[in-house]
Amino acid sequence: MAAEFVTSAASARDLPREPVAELVFAGRSNVGKSSVINALARQPLARTSAAPGKTRLANFYRLRPERGAAFHLVDLPGYGYARGDREGRAFEPLVQEYFFGGPAQRQLRPAIAGVVLLIDARHPGLASDLEAAGWFAAHGCAVRLAATKVDKLSRADRQRADAAIRRAFGVDALMMSAQTGEGIEELWVWIAQQVEQWKQPSR
Ligand code: GTP
Ligand code: MG
Repeated sequence: MAAEFVTSAASARDLPREPVAELVFAGRSNVGKSSVINALARQPLARTSAAPGKTRLANFYRLRPERGAAFHLVDLPGYGYARGDREGRAFEPLVQEYFFGGPAQRQLRPAIAGVVLLIDARHPGLASDLEAAGWFAAHGCAVRLAATKVDKLSRADRQRADAAIRRAFGVDALMMSAQTGEGIEELWVWIAQQVEQWKQPSR
């Protein structure tokens, strides 16, 4: 499988216009979005950092699987991190622009084939994550909830986290780790399904 960087977008004007399915990674700053993208691509495409707020732009990566159509992975800036605002706003303007092309537009970006909402398995049910999940659901996005960094949990804590997530979000999370690779294969299966089901918008 080939993978390459496509572009970085600072605003809606810079977004790619190619009619290619997009798989979006959303989640709090530092949760591990860029790391999961690298694990999926099996190469260090996206910059990662121990300090939150590393990804400030919407970054697009093209993946060409051996079989099936090429698609883009979209690495969004994390929420819950904004200068001078420790709690953060749920979604900064760039993210809103990405999804809707601006505050006036209500239609979801047609390229979006699915959203992977990443949460930290050690912190199930954070208000900002629940808010994000509600926002995606309200806008009709196909979402896969994924709890990452499970390598940091003991067996018992992991079971507790699994149950707490189900209680808080009402759905099961894919338990995964970019570090050990756990769950990456399963995430691939979901992504491939979304890409396959995605219909190129007619112009
Ligand atoms: P922003 O770009 O700031 O929004 O962060 P991000 O969500 O892209 O997180 P990033 O991938 O940069 O990872 C943040 C930190 O968590 C880095 O130090 C990673 O090495 C670490 N990390 C990411 N995934 C895992 C994981 O599955 N397990 C462990 N133990 N550490 C991880
Ligand atoms: Mg990042």
